[in-house]
Amino acid sequence: MQNQKPKPRILTGDRPTGPLHLGHYVGTLANRVKLQDQYDCFFIIADLHTLTTAATKDKTSAIPDRVRGLVLDYLSIGIDPEKSVIYQQSRVPQVAYLATIFSNLISVPRAQRVPTLKEIMHDLHIQQPSLGLLNYPVLQAADILMVKANLVPVGKDQESHVEISREIARDFNKIFGEVFPIPKALIGDIPTLIGTDGQAKMSKSIGNCIYLSDDSDTVLQKVKTMYTDPNRIHPTDPGKVEGNPVFIYHDAFNDNKSEVADLKDRYQKGTVGDVEVKQKLAVAINKFLDPIRQTRQKFESKPDLIDDIITSGSQKAASQAQKTLDEVLQTMGIR
Ligand code: TRP
Repeated sequence: MQNQKPKPRILTGDRPTGPLHLGHYVGTLANRVKLQDQYDCFFIIADLHTLTTAATKDKTSAIPDRVRGLVLDYLSIGIDPEKSVIYQQSRVPQVAYLATIFSNLISVPRAQRVPTLKEIMHDLHIQQPSLGLLNYPVLQAADILMVKANLVPVGKDQESHVEISREIARDFNKIFGEVFPIPKALIGDIPTLIGTDGQAKMSKSIGNCIYLSDDSDTVLQKVKTMYTDPNRIHPTDPGKVEGNPVFIYHDAFNDNKSEVADLKDRYQKGTVGDVEVKQKLAVAINKFLDPIRQTRQKFESKPDLIDDIITSGSQKAASQAQKTLDEVLQTMGIR
């Protein structure tokens, strides 16, 4: 078909800082897989962004392995390199060029007001942010706008960065001329998944995650030690379902809805023990993870294929980035 309208675009991705977990899945990964057919998708592995908090040689030299690990995570959940572009940010130098231009469209106080900056500084005990860290959302705006993305499926924590991208796109269009669509954030069904320990969210640094790459025994062990209703001492005590991590996970991952309803009912009445609730949860999560594990296994034995996917994806992204950069320079009157 010739006069077919081009598909709208998605750009999203992750920093290669470690394996992806169930929180990523419900927050953004599920959306990515679902939208692959309707959208032209770009998935960035944002290795330059890791420098903002980890500019040391031992961290930077771990990047290639981390990148491969993330590609494997993507493939395992069903991101299909035949349909979508998976690429490594540092292999697309045009993005740094675009970020340099964009950094002139945002004030320092505006960048300082981005909530993630304070969070990162607090969590990592950073007293003085580097220019790179302050510029983090600007580099992210360059990622997003470089492919003229329309939609950005991200976790809730990234919403403020998409907002910066929108502001930069609007300002650029107003000052120089219409180049960029205004991108929209798309947040997952469960914006943030509570940790296995009952803390607000799954986080690698706290160690309260179930990873997509965990085997079934690991899942069982982690579920067994999960935080539940702290006031419930005996299985005959009526328990609290609301806000109880075990039931939040049941709702998210157990596709047997009548089993979940029955467990909740008996939990509230005090006629089921934590052991059974957890046993069934482990089964449900493992059932959810099994197809992911199988796909992972298929790709794990083909390291060359992973490298090819990164190389060819990065070439596609770079050619798109160069096109946008040329248009930007022309629109600005520099070329
Ligand atoms: N900042 C994102 C995160 O930490 C990763 C990222 C970099 C990203 N560039 C992006 C996400 C562009 C969406 C779009 O999760």
